[in-house]
Amino acid sequence: MAKFYLTTAIDYVNGAPHIGHAYEKILTDIISRHFKKRIDDVFFLSGTDEHGIKIQKTSAAQGITPKELCDQNSAKFQECWKALDVNYDKFIRTTDDYHKSAVQKIFKKLVDKGDIYKNSYKGLYCQGCECFLNEKDLTEDGLCPNHMKKPEEVCEENYFFKLTKYKDAIIKHIKDNPDFIVPSFRANEVLNQLEDIQDISVSRSVSNVTWGVPVLDDAEQVIYVWIDALSNYITALGYDTEENSEEFNKYWPADVHVIGKDILKFHSIYWLALLMALDLPLPKHLLAHGWITIDEAKMSKSLGNVIAPQDILKNFELQNADALRYYMASAAPCGKDGNYSDDDFKEKVNAHLANSMGNLLNRTLSMLVKYFDGEIKAEFKTDAGILNSAKNTIDIVKNHFDNFEIAEAANAIIQLVDTTNKYVTDNAPWTLAKEEKMTECGQVLTTVLDIMCVIASLIEPFCPNIARDMAKQLSFDLDIKYDNLTVDNIKIGKLISKDDIHPIFLRVDSELADKSQKKK
Ligand code: MSP
Repeated sequence: MAKFYLTTAIDYVNGAPHIGHAYEKILTDIISRHFKKRIDDVFFLSGTDEHGIKIQKTSAAQGITPKELCDQNSAKFQECWKALDVNYDKFIRTTDDYHKSAVQKIFKKLVDKGDIYKNSYKGLYCQGCECFLNEKDLTEDGLCPNHMKKPEEVCEENYFFKLTKYKDAIIKHIKDNPDFIVPSFRANEVLNQLEDIQDISVSRSVSNVTWGVPVLDDAEQVIYVWIDALSNYITALGYDTEENSEEFNKYWPADVHVIGKDILKFHSIYWLALLMALDLPLPKHLLAHGWITIDEAKMSKSLGNVIAPQDILKNFELQNADALRYYMASAAPCGKDGNYSDDDFKEKVNAHLANSMGNLLNRTLSMLVKYFDGEIKAEFKTDAGILNSAKNTIDIVKNHFDNFEIAEAANAIIQLVDTTNKYVTDNAPWTLAKEEKMTECGQVLTTVLDIMCVIASLIEPFCPNIARDMAKQLSFDLDIKYDNLTVDNIKIGKLISKDDIHPIFLRVDSELADKSQKKK
């Protein structure tokens, strides 16, 4: 693998970021950080999706211009990702000039090719989905099943994209590439949706919608949402239909688009068809993650249960986002729905990060100081049996990441922590010291510390701050790539002094947690 290009969905900016948006960005950031420890050329793209009727209406209601609303809210998303240590390589806004001009060219290319044509249209438009719905998609009461709102009847002259032309090729691609849609159980849903697809409307009349990218040579129409939005994955790299940038040639096709299950149809059908129409290679994988609920309820403004990620950091007085990142990453097995609750958050991060991982490092280093003045002696040979488990865990974690099983990878790391804790209990170095079996005692401690280096390296994509702190106390080089990571990490000689030992993660305080519970 020479390069790895990964993207998130770009978020609508008609509100502020919530924990559902954060879930996706954290997952993608973790995948990016993991692959950066395997290959040199990783490119991580995120951004905001800024056109559409919702922005037009919300900004009008607030008495500001659509662009002002986009600027305000896009900044909120970017601030939030910074607070969560989401480290993208590029952030695209669909209001960026280079993007708008590339989208116009893409549209024109498809018109010239005959894949986009003009037609008058009568349909049901859901503003929440920003797309037309078929009668059969609606609930019995005629509502959009996702937004439980009645779609608006729209009758206009629009441009249409010949989706039907690509139907067979898309079906073939999905069937021939069983690992294209992750998790694979979602492929059947897409194949069902493909059965009765029609050509799609890709523009709106300026008499109804003005906040969009204008169609070149047709002042009456703006390019509508999905062509504009999906194209971000290539325009961000410098694709503009004619002369493509070096970055585009280097990174396209994407290795994975990370998206929510609700927008899988747009990515697996519309996006593939657009790319086929543009004669471009197809992305290698679509990771469709599940949805995050709050205390098992769907997040919604009307229920008043929308959680802003930074509020969790604030409520629990967390120094950084590591605990939240770890919790969100392990919230659901690959592609399944997950849940956030304050109590569960507190319980899980205290158990895994403080009690299991943190204490293991802390007490091992403390014993090294107590019994050996912090020194690793040449005669401390390590225990091959358990070191083999650590070695296997490196491969298991890599394998999970290859399959985008992030929670499963987190679980494998914590299992190694548990196995190592059990090794300490079973070998009782304190008893060995009491019995003056000092070499054996040092051997156990050195073995554990060697494994802690592996754990620091594997946990780094999830918890970069904690990992840095662990590595510092272990004098371990965190920049080592996974291919060069061994289980022989601890050097002979003085490792640490008493004053340099400190907890890597403080238990989330129960009083604070209670306070945040009461606020609800
Ligand atoms: N703008 C489109 C995506 C265009 S991609 C070319 C959009 N925006 S969104 O703001 O509604 O959603 C952005 C991402 O956040 C989507 O992948 C969506 O699935 C995800 N989530 C929004 N709410 C979510 C949860 N409650 N839980 C998990 N992810 C969710 O769709």
